[in-house]
Amino acid sequence: MMTAASGRPHSTDCNHQVEMLSVPELIKKKRDGGTLSDEEVKAFIQAVTTQNIQDCQIGAMLMAIWQRSMVATETEALTREMMRSGEVMSWPEEWAGLVVDKHSTGGVGDKVSLVLAPALAACGCKVPMISGRGLVHTGGTLDKLESIPGFNIHQPPAQVRGILASVGCCIMGQTETLVPADRVLYALRDATSTVDSLPLITGSIISKKGAESLTALVLDVKFGRAALYKDLASAKKLAQSLMNAGNGLGMRTGAVLSRMDTPIGRCVGNSLEVIESLETLKGKGPDDLMELVTSLGGVLLMMIGKVSNLSEGSRQISEAVIGGAALSKFQAMMEAQGVANETARSLCSAHTDYYSILRKAQHQMELKTPKDGRKYT
Ligand code: URA
Repeated sequence: MMTAASGRPHSTDCNHQVEMLSVPELIKKKRDGGTLSDEEVKAFIQAVTTQNIQDCQIGAMLMAIWQRSMVATETEALTREMMRSGEVMSWPEEWAGLVVDKHSTGGVGDKVSLVLAPALAACGCKVPMISGRGLVHTGGTLDKLESIPGFNIHQPPAQVRGILASVGCCIMGQTETLVPADRVLYALRDATSTVDSLPLITGSIISKKGAESLTALVLDVKFGRAALYKDLASAKKLAQSLMNAGNGLGMRTGAVLSRMDTPIGRCVGNSLEVIESLETLKGKGPDDLMELVTSLGGVLLMMIGKVSNLSEGSRQISEAVIGGAALSKFQAMMEAQGVANETARSLCSAHTDYYSILRKAQHQMELKTPKDGRKYT
């Protein structure tokens, strides 16, 4: 039988024993405010991964977690077991200490990844950046990159290694084999109104970063009128939970909290944001975008010990952007991910007609302002 929620088959053996506790007993323990042991969390995630549990039981456990939350040790166990539900990437020994990534709470106009990944690569890091699609009204990094003709966000692990070896950064979508438990849980969180649970958000985000086998992860957590989290206190709570889980997995994990009351930069929309990112990589980016890129990159360089303080880290990232090294990395990344050399070269040249190259929105509408706007210079 298939369910509407996830399209997964129902299992008939759904009360299997786990350290004496059946799945209904595990649900009851969490529902009544108990703390699940590492073994119990492991049993739940294994049942989810092997489909040895009904969707309604997963939904009930998700609701119990939503209502009772989890202590730090439970969240850490949840994150670890989710990470282990699928493939965990491995890297050559000579990259030890160099593999980094960031996670952002995002927001309108957030194009940081497009500038930060090549800037970090230009500073000698390896950046296997797994990005997402747009959510609600905010654009996704993958959608933005796909406005570049030929850009392929589907990269098998062997290809990723090759791109990281030759270029240093690769921006891609989540593969089928990475954290399969998250795909199941995410669909059911959506169907059961349990998306906004701190331990579930933490497990979902950090398990995927853990599966990238990172040395260091920086979290870009925003708060303010234009951000997901409206106040500093809730942003700090999220950052702390993510940092605890990341550090618990052995990744050096730090966070930058920044105020976001307006969109980032001046451009919003897939191809427009690619244009603004390219302009930034040509040294003509807006101050707010540059500040985010240099702060996040600076923190990562400090966390992996490439620099001894944040200002030196930010300076190196800024130099990689202003001096053009990051632009060369972006060009090489485009070529490695399927963009024709001529297209990549043209997009990265000083005088480009971006609009003749990049894909345009399928639907266009002219909106007239009732009065004159302010012209950016
Ligand atoms: N991103 C994720 O991958 N999972 C969440 O729960 C929230 C953001």
